[in-house]
Amino acid sequence: MSFLSEIERRRTFGIVSHPDAGKTTLTEKLLLFGGAIQEAGAVKSNKIKKGATSDFMEIERQRGISVATSVLAFEYNGIKINILDTPGHKDFAEDTFRTLTAVDSVIVVIDVAKGVEEQTEKLVKVCRMRNIPIIVFINKMDREGKDAFDLLDEIEQKLNLKVVPLSFPIGMGYDFKGIYNIWEKNINLFTGDSKRDIEETIKISEVSDPELNTIIGDTAAENLREELELVEGIYPEFNKEDYLNGDLQPVFFGSALNNFGVRELLDCFVSIAPKPRPKHSEERLVKPNEDKFTGFVFKIHANMDPNHRDRLAFIKIVSGEFKRNTPYLHVRHNKKLKFSSPNAFFAEKKEIVDISYPGDIVGLHDTGNFKIGDTLTEGEVLNYKGVPSFSPEHFRYINNADPLKSKQLFKGIDQLMDEGVAQLFTLDLNGRKVIGTVGALQYEVIQYRLEHEYGAKCSYENLSVHKACWIEPENINHPEFVEFKRVKQRYLATDKQGQLVFLADSVFSLQMTEQKYPSIKFHLTSEY
Ligand code: G4P
Repeated sequence: MSFLSEIERRRTFGIVSHPDAGKTTLTEKLLLFGGAIQEAGAVKSNKIKKGATSDFMEIERQRGISVATSVLAFEYNGIKINILDTPGHKDFAEDTFRTLTAVDSVIVVIDVAKGVEEQTEKLVKVCRMRNIPIIVFINKMDREGKDAFDLLDEIEQKLNLKVVPLSFPIGMGYDFKGIYNIWEKNINLFTGDSKRDIEETIKISEVSDPELNTIIGDTAAENLREELELVEGIYPEFNKEDYLNGDLQPVFFGSALNNFGVRELLDCFVSIAPKPRPKHSEERLVKPNEDKFTGFVFKIHANMDPNHRDRLAFIKIVSGEFKRNTPYLHVRHNKKLKFSSPNAFFAEKKEIVDISYPGDIVGLHDTGNFKIGDTLTEGEVLNYKGVPSFSPEHFRYINNADPLKSKQLFKGIDQLMDEGVAQLFTLDLNGRKVIGTVGALQYEVIQYRLEHEYGAKCSYENLSVHKACWIEPENINHPEFVEFKRVKQRYLATDKQGQLVFLADSVFSLQMTEQKYPSIKFHLTSEY
């Protein structure tokens, strides 16, 4: 197959949801369609059990599973699909944000009973910032839930989306009869006794067809006709261009657990979802069909086996072909590196591959060369943009608990930060180190890993910080900025990239500071 057709047939996407909405179940059903797994239950849930905050085994297990499920690739009707795993647990939200820099589109899963939940809101916001094309899957239609129109309204309002239903449920919960597929114009009946089978669809090209009454009964048929009329009146017609530009989001209904409505979703996905998209670097826009290889690191995973201290760096290929044993330029280090055993991922297994294409993810063994956001090329000096840091939610001082091991401690902290486990800030006033995380769980992960992988011990000390804001002065000699630096010195810190950060101790103090220094911009992400 030619290079161009390899690109054409790739779809790299992520499934995002609030925990428990059904992401793992949906992923598994998609893999079943692709024949990548043989039975349900093969994809292990990557969620950390609620309340398991001090269960190190659980943390370790989680790390192991997320390596295995980091990329799940399968083929469906000649299309190579790469699903990138996005942890749903909010303590790992940063990992998910970064993974979103490597996807070309997403499927958002929403629980019909719970509607739009907090984590979904946050993740969709990040997708919207990047104009990532989104398909919505409303799950658990076999359960009582919200009215379809109410839920569509909620999605539009809370997620700031413009939806267009491409399928519509016939009843729900106990009365759930099936789905009318607006996209393909057919009906898929939900039958309790053949729940786990892949359903046969019934072609109904016109909903006015009296055949509909025979199939679903008079009342359901009338209701459906009315609802579809409403759908036609309220929602715009589906338009692929608008979807690809992030301006329109198709919605499907189904029940992942019952494998219902999943084939419809997948068929529509492969026909509309974007193939690998061009990506902005600081220098220029890079197109997938350029013949020279370029790619970037979006995730780093430590090896679970303590005998092998190496890590796996996940590279998204943006352009050209990535070949085994070929020297590539590590742009930040200005150093050529060769990889003798790049891994490709297929469902649950990984294999060494000789060649990979744009859209693919390769895992490279790394002994500490990479950090998140690094670019690899065939020689061109390029720096891919778009792996920002977000303000952490928790902040603690980190102290060395074993003075004889300070070297190990600093090396460990350095490497864990490069992996993106947490963020490090150094206070300008006294050089003390502060670790910022999205969730409290990370502090335990860091402490455990410092001890087990680096032989260092640390302790934490609480610090009252509300948010970290990256500072953008109008100009560095502006008197207001000079005064700000003097007055607020004890709240100022430097992040690992050397950027100036203001550690605001409360919402109030942040607002006051913003008002007092109007020429300075305060950003909650490191890229603005
Ligand atoms: P997540 O990855 O988004 O966190 O969700 P996951 O797929 O693990 O699903 C969360 C729970 O919802 C699971 O139940 C799963 O079986 C259930 N579920 C998923 N899809 C559907 C659906 O279409 N209908 C119904 N009724 N339930 C669904 P659990 O009891 O938490 O886990 P398990 O013991 O079944 O694994």
